[in-house]
Amino acid sequence: MPEGTRTWIEDLSQHVGEDVVLLGWVRHHRSSGKLHFLEIRDGTGNVQAVVKKGVASDEALEAAASVGIESSVEVHGSVKAHARREGEVEVAVAELRILAPTVEDYPLGKKEHGTGFLMDNRHLWLRSSRPWAVMRIRAEVIRACRAHLDGLGFVGVDAPILGSAAAEGTATLFPVEYYDDQVYLSQTGQLHMEAAAQALGRVYCLGPTFRAEKSKTRRHLTEFWMLEPEIAFAHLDDAMDLMESLVASVLASVLERCRPELEVLERDARKLEAAASTPYPRLTYDEALARLEGTEAAIPWGEDFGAPQEDALSSLFDTPVLVHRYPAAVKAFYMRPDPERPEVALGCDMIAPEGYGEIVGGGERNGDLAFLERRIEEEGLPPAAYEWYLDLRRYGACASAGFGLGLERTIAWICGLAHVREAIAFPRTMSRTSP
Ligand code: 4AD
Ligand code: MG
Repeated sequence: MPEGTRTWIEDLSQHVGEDVVLLGWVRHHRSSGKLHFLEIRDGTGNVQAVVKKGVASDEALEAAASVGIESSVEVHGSVKAHARREGEVEVAVAELRILAPTVEDYPLGKKEHGTGFLMDNRHLWLRSSRPWAVMRIRAEVIRACRAHLDGLGFVGVDAPILGSAAAEGTATLFPVEYYDDQVYLSQTGQLHMEAAAQALGRVYCLGPTFRAEKSKTRRHLTEFWMLEPEIAFAHLDDAMDLMESLVASVLASVLERCRPELEVLERDARKLEAAASTPYPRLTYDEALARLEGTEAAIPWGEDFGAPQEDALSSLFDTPVLVHRYPAAVKAFYMRPDPERPEVALGCDMIAPEGYGEIVGGGERNGDLAFLERRIEEEGLPPAAYEWYLDLRRYGACASAGFGLGLERTIAWICGLAHVREAIAFPRTMSRTSP
């Protein structure tokens, strides 16, 4: 094999006229007589490798004739402008070596597969172009979230995964054996972020959270990732302002940096451009009910929103919509009641456009020790598990506000996916814990 420097496919356009070495996999294979066109991918991109008699060695021609889809290969060749596609490059192959042939035909062939089969083979499916694009957009969403909050002066703090208290209802707790004890997988980092906000002012965590959801819907995972900012001395409006600026800046970053990925997904970028324009409409729960009146999604005052209400509301706007001041009875124990109207809570959900449902939930926390003690009792929660949380009210209680942005739902919306399970590399649902 001739010498050469290993080059990533995404960098090839900077090496036109040079000899390079590619390490990757064969994605497609097309031959006509002694001329072979291999599409090589290395995770950073795809490139056409042309194996032609007279340019390539005899060994390379032989390897090109026999190589199977998804075999790993080493390619030596020179980078040229693509023969037909302007602005693209191709590689004129001198040498081709099969590093590891596939043991049998690659299971994800050209024919259409059902989602069940694809998910069973998620470890291989990830190599395909759609999951590839989604994973790159996911990485950009996470980068943009951190960049936005870091830029505002927030401090990243990691919340624990194992804990002893429920924050989002006992019905969805996953128990874990812990020596002679039982603990639970975290449903939210919020309670710990409230403690961290009292130490560091404005904080956020970004990590996996777990809920034993009994619902098999396209919006529910049992393991999902949440970004949770929390601000000390802040109110509902501060939380709403931050969720709005955060989501708009994430959209702007994806639109700026992920155009090729959106194209792979055939996602209409104009819809995302429209959704990036602020301010987002803000409706009280009561105003939202009024909008739903006379439609099939109408509900009586006091009922929580489900998918039909969220979908009907989202169909009215091109941007996300913020709904605040839900009935206190349908919201978590830690929410502060509106002092002007205690039957509603100072909470807010952000509902994504195009029927992608609630992507953010949050609001203002209750700082009143006696109120929280009473609510913990009413909910039948074990008081001992909340003693540390109540200390945050005993020692320098302050107004505190924040929210949780569900990453998979946000990514499913941005990518235009049919189900949240495609928004994470290895999804966990009621019926899936492998691969
Ligand atoms: O509305 P939720 O339950 O809010 C909280 O957990 C708060 N403690 C967050 C906070 O204030 N720090 O969840 C927040 C978001 C939802 O809006 C949704 O996007 C996502 O988390 N989410 C799920 N995503 C996928 N699968 C599930 N089972 C989800 N449950 C919630
Ligand atoms: Mg919620």
